[in-house]
Amino acid sequence: MKISGTGSVLPRKVVTNEMLSQFLDTSDQWITTRTGVKSRRVISDEKLEDMAIEASLKALADAGMNADELDFIICSNVVNEYVTPQLSCIIQGGIGATCPCIDINCACAGFIHALEIAESFYKAGRVGNVLVVCAEEPTRMTDWNDRRTCVLFGDGAGAAVLTPGDNIRSIKLSASSATDKLWQYRLLHHTPYITKEEVDVPLQMKGQDVFKFAVKAASRDIARTLKETGVTADEVDHFMLHQANIRIINAIQEYLEQPSDKFPVNIEDHGNSSSSCCPILLDECNRSGRLKRGDLIAMSAFGAGFVSGAVLFEW
Ligand code: UT7
Repeated sequence: MKISGTGSVLPRKVVTNEMLSQFLDTSDQWITTRTGVKSRRVISDEKLEDMAIEASLKALADAGMNADELDFIICSNVVNEYVTPQLSCIIQGGIGATCPCIDINCACAGFIHALEIAESFYKAGRVGNVLVVCAEEPTRMTDWNDRRTCVLFGDGAGAAVLTPGDNIRSIKLSASSATDKLWQYRLLHHTPYITKEEVDVPLQMKGQDVFKFAVKAASRDIARTLKETGVTADEVDHFMLHQANIRIINAIQEYLEQPSDKFPVNIEDHGNSSSSCCPILLDECNRSGRLKRGDLIAMSAFGAGFVSGAVLFEW
């Protein structure tokens, strides 16, 4: 398969570090130096499904394709207002497609997991055109009184249209269960039979553990894709990394010994939008003319689980 079109949408509301400093014991200086985030885009009156639909339509337009030409839709999402139906079904109707669809929840690594699933469908000869759409509102998961988490995140939707081709060189996924590092509980409706204690807990994170995992996993995943294909890091044109923390990106850059201009970033004014980070970054690079046909792109993401993955592909 190959990526033939991209699209993305951000919420309108810009929340700066100064705005957060008005109600949190934090500062622009702390957030900027420790994370690289100066502002983030936060959902206010938008609905996530509308953003996902718009991002998908942009990706279809970029690919020159109509929604009724799609054979499958994969939506990556951690939370949204619906418990059911799945978000991909809402997006399917919203864009006017008629194909089957599934949701996956692989946290921030969802885009790369979706590509792996799609690639398997292509290899099995089951699909022609596929839409991958990542739609995330992590700002609805954090406690906005918790300065350790809420300053990191932003919302957004990013989409990619896949068509037949031979551009995926390698995809490597991994999972290692560490459910006490990055997690959230939601309270389900009570029944007359529930006797266990249940609690509603916003997103919890052991930041330093996640940081260490992220650097190790991303470096390893990218190295595995390079080893499998015999490509050297020098031959890769762009390293598109999950936008979780500029210090994580810098550490991976140091490990790969590559110049910073190969690492496009948007964390400064986007924050971490979970699985949407990778397709939003890809779309922004695509639309700004940064990508040339034939460029080699290494993309990597990591997240709660822990899960991680990297993909090496040709533009
Ligand atoms: O998609 C995956 C999602 N998550 C991640 O990728 C997160 C990975 N981890 C990180 O990015 C970093 O660990 C953080 C940015 C979360 C934290 O940075 P850190 O350099 O690891 O700081 P820390 O947790 O060691 O905290 C240092 C100090 C603490 O104060 P004390 O105990 O030293 O007095 C924190 O309470 O900084 C304090 N602190 C803050 N201060 C001002 C934590 N958050 C803030 C804040 N403003 N927002």
